[in-house]
Amino acid sequence: MKILGIHAGHDASAALIVDGKVVADVAEERFNRIKHFAGLPIEAIKYCLQSGSLGINDVDYIVLPSKNLQPKMNVLFDLKGDDAIQTSLTHKAVKLYKEKLKRSDVKPPVYMEFFPLKDASKIKHIDHHLSHAASAYYTSGTAERQLIFTMDGIGDGASIVIWEGINGKITELKRFGANASLGWFYGNVTEGLGWIHGDGEGKTMGLDPYGNAENCTGVLDRFCPKFKNGELAEPHDFGRTFYWNENGSFQYHLEEAKEIQGLVPKYGREDIAAEAQRVLEREVFNIVLPWIEKTGCDFISCSGGIFLNVKLNQRLWECEQVKKQHIYANAGDSGLAVGCALQVYYELNPKAEVLRPEDIYWGPEYSNDYVKEILDARGLSYEYVENIEAYTAQLLADDKIIAWFQGRMESGPRALGNRSILMSPNKPENKDVINAKVKFREAFRPFCPSLQWEKRDEYLENARDEFFMITSFTCKEDKRAKVPAVVHADNTMRPQTVKKEFNERYWNLINEFGKLTGEYVLLNTSFNIMGEPMINHPREAIRCFYDGGIEVLVIGNYVLKK
Ligand SMILES: [Fe+2]
Repeated sequence: MKILGIHAGHDASAALIVDGKVVADVAEERFNRIKHFAGLPIEAIKYCLQSGSLGINDVDYIVLPSKNLQPKMNVLFDLKGDDAIQTSLTHKAVKLYKEKLKRSDVKPPVYMEFFPLKDASKIKHIDHHLSHAASAYYTSGTAERQLIFTMDGIGDGASIVIWEGINGKITELKRFGANASLGWFYGNVTEGLGWIHGDGEGKTMGLDPYGNAENCTGVLDRFCPKFKNGELAEPHDFGRTFYWNENGSFQYHLEEAKEIQGLVPKYGREDIAAEAQRVLEREVFNIVLPWIEKTGCDFISCSGGIFLNVKLNQRLWECEQVKKQHIYANAGDSGLAVGCALQVYYELNPKAEVLRPEDIYWGPEYSNDYVKEILDARGLSYEYVENIEAYTAQLLADDKIIAWFQGRMESGPRALGNRSILMSPNKPENKDVINAKVKFREAFRPFCPSLQWEKRDEYLENARDEFFMITSFTCKEDKRAKVPAVVHADNTMRPQTVKKEFNERYWNLINEFGKLTGEYVLLNTSFNIMGEPMINHPREAIRCFYDGGIEVLVIGNYVLKK
């Protein structure tokens, strides 16, 4: 059974699921280079279909993670007349839009490749939050009972939904609307601090350990909904919702960001960030813990943009009420394409085994031959190295900054050793070197480690199998000075643990580095420059290499030096 998931909103993406297994998943931003692109993910769909050698009419279902369909989908599938997808919204503006649609004002240019669909009944719609829930539950590796929490800014009118997953089926327990949005609260603070709502939330989180929430306790309370006993005790009126199109990426804007910005001169950015994190964690705990108690279920699964907050995830993991925790690695909206497709697969195959993906290398790859062509066409000097792992490990041990481009691109926001910039974590200054010379970003931003899975207990307190950098752990005391460039100001690290079976070349690289230095850890950050999507194609890798302070570029078995 072949199912194509297509998400056309913020972080547009497409995913192909074959017999319940994800075989391709990629965000459109990786092709069109517009970060968080919102719109039709045409190149991502093309990639998914090509990777399965399929045409659009070969798939069994096309699934959209939204109840309320954007009419632009009709253009994508060349649907007209009775077949046209109608939105289920009924308010006046949408009625007018439907009328407009009949006149078909939108017409793609003749050179544009679209996906004429012969049978419109193949299209299914799955609720936004159910798609998030499915991305968590159906990647957990077990059909056993789980309490599923999905939290984000807003999606299909909901901001937080609580679900139960049991015996391969997901059932809704409770749904909260826009007036409960913790995602909007945190996004407003992020915008007030000067960053982009729906993009810069990780920066707010990264700034938190540098501040002290006690210096401004309570000042953000009036911007946030409040929960008590798992219910919404104080709904929050966020006022009007506005949009802004930042180079193809649509962002929500709410008026309170301005008010929060006004607090920054008085309290300082660090303390405001710390208070935002404190309030977020408090409110999430006021939801999660009572629901664990009410249902007696201490296995939680999580997805939605809020759960990209690795500190929150760590707090949940460390609290004694949570016995098991699973967070989908691509928790934001770019994970919706996988989620909605999985939901339909398990609705149709309720007895199918629930799998746990071992890796999420679901994007494009480029062969050595193809890379050589690209390099030759540009007249670049390079060398071919057979044992690329040992060779690169020596350069890393010599404190060189390496761009490492191998195999299929990672799905989701984290670099996992296939499109990574790497450096030795053994010197504290290496963090500042990369921030200043390569990433061109704020000095406080932390870097994450990739560490050998076998060595996780040597480095992490309360370690568990965590392959996707989706939660932080406290670094063991005796290791903090050994790998200082990947330990954050609060002594936490957000690791990728690397298993040999999942990524042999990357594991070998870490292993060779360990043999040289004694530490089986690398500093790993995504291969891109601040504000740009992660590198996908060798051409972009070459551009990024020459546009910054990267010293060596390794693509496949080819090495370029400056
Ligand atoms: Fe979402």
